[in-house]
Amino acid sequence: LTMEPSKEYLFTHKGFYFAANITTPEYLDSLETFEIRDSDVFIATYPKSGTVWTQNILSLIFHEGHRNGTENIDLMDRIPWLEYNTKHMDYSAFPSPRLFATHLPLICLRLVFFFFLQVIYVTRNPKDVLVSYFHFSKIMVTLEKVSDFNIFMERFLAGKGKVSFLSWLDHVTGWHSHAEDFNILFLTYEEMKKDLRSAVLKICNFVGKTLSEKEVESVVRQATFENMRKDPRANYENLSEFLREKKPGYFLRKGTTGDWKNMMTVAQSERVDEVLKEKMKNLPIKFIWDI
Ligand code: A3P
Repeated sequence: LTMEPSKEYLFTHKGFYFAANITTPEYLDSLETFEIRDSDVFIATYPKSGTVWTQNILSLIFHEGHRNGTENIDLMDRIPWLEYNTKHMDYSAFPSPRLFATHLPLICLRLVFFFFLQVIYVTRNPKDVLVSYFHFSKIMVTLEKVSDFNIFMERFLAGKGKVSFLSWLDHVTGWHSHAEDFNILFLTYEEMKKDLRSAVLKICNFVGKTLSEKEVESVVRQATFENMRKDPRANYENLSEFLREKKPGYFLRKGTTGDWKNMMTVAQSERVDEVLKEKMKNLPIKFIWDI
């Protein structure tokens, strides 16, 4: 078992790991001068926190539940990734309002970038993120396979990017520490799961979109786990073959809260609690462990 990430798939940039087959250091550097617009909306997340779900909701909101034919466009093209412009799209030619997703930690970009636009930051309790990531690593070419969950967990907690590109702790504390500086809507995976309709309305309100009752219903219906899983455009089935292992496995795996209880021992769960207590003492964030 190697303790290093598989080098051929990853490179480091400003101390973070990136997938070598879908971005380059030059492209990442070019983001320093990326021109933002006041009307841009960003979804920012640590991976496995509900990014694709939020992407789908936001896209459905802006397209009134698909009334503009967007069901024929892959979700990842409707709300493209800032740091992974795999199709070399000209983002500057996109009409406003532009919608983007990013996993970038705040310190990867000039902070000024975020002063003007709207950011939706989604968190999920770290035990579910960890378990989701563990399964995810098995279907992604770019992620190192670690069969021993305990080793995976320790690396995840150490956050040196070895199994997961980025430190979960740094990502979440980094964004939360700017809660007062930026126009950020903080959402949790768990609240979306508990009451999807309210989460949809919160996002509508944040981005200033008023939808009819029928349109809201349509958004909610199409953003359920079951319906997203059935829709190859929404469930990332068309994710590049450079990224996916050639074996079965869904991007939308289980879509529940509290799945960590099926995977983690009491000792492992306590270990996570202990690390959070220590590392988050200056910024205690309340997590919902199950609903
Ligand atoms: P699980 O692996 O626990 O199933 P991300 O998009 O940030 O990578 O997050 C992926 C996680 O979000 C996966 O969690 C996935 O199943 C879950 N997810 C995606 N769409 C969802 C939905 N509509 N409802 C609930 N969970 C969803």
